[in-house]
Amino acid sequence: MENFIVTTTRKQDSTQETFAEELSLKLGGKFIKREDFSLDTLKKTYDAENILLVKKNSLSIVTADGELFFHPNTAHLRIKNLRCGAGDRLIDALKISDGSTVLDCTLGLGSDAIVESFIAGAAGKVVALEINPLIAEVVSYGLKNFSDDSLHILEAMRRVEVINADCAEFLKTCPNDSFDVVYFDPMFRRPIKKSSGLNSIRPLADNRPLTLEIIREAYRVAKLRVVMKEHSGSTEFERLGFKVLGGGKYSSIAFGVIDKSY
Ligand SMILES: C[S@@+](CC[C@H](N)C(=O)[O-])C[C@H]1O[C@@H](n2cnc3c(N)ncnc32)[C@H](O)[C@@H]1O
Repeated sequence: MENFIVTTTRKQDSTQETFAEELSLKLGGKFIKREDFSLDTLKKTYDAENILLVKKNSLSIVTADGELFFHPNTAHLRIKNLRCGAGDRLIDALKISDGSTVLDCTLGLGSDAIVESFIAGAAGKVVALEINPLIAEVVSYGLKNFSDDSLHILEAMRRVEVINADCAEFLKTCPNDSFDVVYFDPMFRRPIKKSSGLNSIRPLADNRPLTLEIIREAYRVAKLRVVMKEHSGSTEFERLGFKVLGGGKYSSIAFGVIDKSY
């Protein structure tokens, strides 16, 4: 991973420094006492590409492109809509319900995982994988500690189990049929620039395309289906063997499914 340092905000208490030191030991970046230095100065002095910043009640990553921090983003509105009886294209594609188990192979900022967790409920399980250790740390911390939302959304967040892993490796360790559904939302081959929610993640996210081997493993691990989100019209669906679902006629994104019941 790129060179990064771990530091705190200028104004901080001793718990922040201790936590920053623990994170630096866990993740490998050097811990730097913030003193009164600007983040730019620290970046230059330590030749750091990114900074993992420990704030009072949150974590963020300062990259060359801006700041990545956890927020429920679209999950808030999507759950509100679901509670009002409206549909959600991801949930329609996953076909999950109370008690379902989901392996979300691409956590990113966690919005999809929160919605999955809301539907799967306390009787279900959502395990979400993220290959980038900094993204995994910031989003996992946010899912556990974010507090500014309704109780049912916070409960859904707390239930998501985040694992810092490459899905290609993790899938190999899973028994056959061990999750109802395996889901992929890889970085699109052709990014939708106006998807500002994901802009902050781009400098850190793994952009490699999925392989047929990953999809074969996902098919083995899924009891019911494998689902992928991609750009509408993406050739990835055909290359990887997904049947594109209808709906979202005017949307720039599409969902593909490999259903095991056929
Ligand atoms: C488009 S984002 C996912 C967005 C997510 N669905 C959400 O709602 O925020 C893709 C994420 O998957 C991660 N990723 C890419 N390849 C991966 C892999 N092989 N294993 C685990 N995570 C991966 C990227 O680093 C990135 O954070």
